[in-house]
Amino acid sequence: MAKFDLIITNGKVVSASDISTCCIGVKDGKIRTLVDSFDPEEMEGARVIDAQGAYVMPGGIDAHVHLCQDLKTGPHGLGGECSDNFETGSKSAAAGGTTTIITFATQTRAEEDRSLLHVVKAYNARAEATGSYVDYGFHIIIVRNDADVLEEEMSVLMKDWGISSCKLFLTYETQRLTDSQLLDVMFAAKKNSMTTMIHAENGDMIQWLTVKQLCNNAHECSEKLESKGMVAPYYHALSRPPLVEGEATNRAIALAQLIQNPILFVHVGSALGAANVRRAQTMGLPVYAETCPQYFHLTWEDLKRFHSPTCFENSKMICSPPPPPDTSDQEELFVGLENGTFTIYSSDHCPFRYDHPNGKPSGVLEDAASMEGEHHCTGKELQSLLERKQGAFRLIPNGIPGVETRLPLLYTGALSTGRITPQKFVELTSTNPAKLYGLYPKKGAIMPGSDADFVIWHPEEAFQSFKLTNDMLHHNVDYTPYEGMEFSNWPRYTILRGQVIWEDGKIQGKVGDGEYLKRGPSQLVRGVSKATKDPRCVAGWLYE
Ligand code: URP
Ligand code: ZN
Ligand code: ZN
Ligand code: ZN
Repeated sequence: MAKFDLIITNGKVVSASDISTCCIGVKDGKIRTLVDSFDPEEMEGARVIDAQGAYVMPGGIDAHVHLCQDLKTGPHGLGGECSDNFETGSKSAAAGGTTTIITFATQTRAEEDRSLLHVVKAYNARAEATGSYVDYGFHIIIVRNDADVLEEEMSVLMKDWGISSCKLFLTYETQRLTDSQLLDVMFAAKKNSMTTMIHAENGDMIQWLTVKQLCNNAHECSEKLESKGMVAPYYHALSRPPLVEGEATNRAIALAQLIQNPILFVHVGSALGAANVRRAQTMGLPVYAETCPQYFHLTWEDLKRFHSPTCFENSKMICSPPPPPDTSDQEELFVGLENGTFTIYSSDHCPFRYDHPNGKPSGVLEDAASMEGEHHCTGKELQSLLERKQGAFRLIPNGIPGVETRLPLLYTGALSTGRITPQKFVELTSTNPAKLYGLYPKKGAIMPGSDADFVIWHPEEAFQSFKLTNDMLHHNVDYTPYEGMEFSNWPRYTILRGQVIWEDGKIQGKVGDGEYLKRGPSQLVRGVSKATKDPRCVAGWLYE
């Protein structure tokens, strides 16, 4: 019998702290040994990948992926049909060097969704309906504070399902919690050692800036975006200036501090948000943050990209929080990647098709009629929206695709340019997500005993840079925000538990190769399981 199934020779093996040139032996899906060289007889029967000159990194872990989320609410409560299921979304992940994804089982306010266990079982059925190319786990989105459910079900989610993280919203009408409700859920999460993820945007600020109906009718309210006819996709960003994230991050930090709950801010997109996180970290509070490629590669200018600022097609770039106003914010976000403000770098892959009735193009434009035939904003659907005279950007599903481009974008924008080291790349994209979400060292490490998950890159000299087009990607989305962008590298191999699933531009794995991951409590977050007597936390007595 062969001693190893797979051998990777002479690669530059990168961990979150070191780079060393060595050879890796894999058997039964696990890393067994790291050595200088193998004797020829040890290599008999093994597949050998020559990684001379290449970076061998632990497989990417994308901890923020929306797949199969319900049309009723969409990933954010705004409707819209999530166009990737587990089959297409995970295939896209594999092609981009990612071997683990964590997706969202989403509670709604419907009575049938009161039970979180019901929500998870229903979501799991969707994953099982197709299977996955890569390993996967679930977060739970909680939008209610039913005391009995929190009391009885959080522990079952942890124990039986290995769901050790929940996401809470400060915005979106159908998902947001009040401060008091947030405290209820965070308190339950803390007691169960579950990590709390926060979507930090101030929903009231957004609505106040956007919608005229919110005000009492005593005055005409002509100053709001919608009353001024500022409803094109571009104005989505103006309805969410950086202060919207700034206020919400500060408030969530204070709420978490009150009850000593560690928190992780998802998709931080502004320099202000990053600065607030940094300040809390400097105070010694257990505050963590995620950022995403769109905040480094898009700005408000991209919301004006197509033909005219009022063109429907700019809806392709709508996500929440929006990209930052200009590149000066991006410089500060890069600093946050380098100095540890950002713990993880995820995609927030949130796939909607553009040319689809339940996809991106929904809304009214001032000059929509004159654009008939020129863009995709034609036909019955547009007519009915015009008749309803409703706001446009408010109705457009939020979110952009990016599970496949996540690692290549970080490589192109930050590793190739020398802004981050290869070790930092691994920390942000694999090791920290594994630790943060209770998967380490099974995932996120190249050590004996860890799963043999790898992404292998040949450095730029051996790689022709190229311009990306959407037809190169494997998602079920008819566009990419990065169309035409020059990429300096792309993964040569993606390997899942010893099996090559992506090689030289071709998918080699099968749907069903991926396994469900039961996760444990976070291995990164401090103070999750034990209450400490910390004078900065005013209500530590809660846990006595
Ligand atoms: O616009 C975004 N980010 N949509 C996805 C849903 C979310 O809030 O993560
Ligand atoms: Zn969110
Ligand atoms: Zn008013
Ligand atoms: Zn998201």
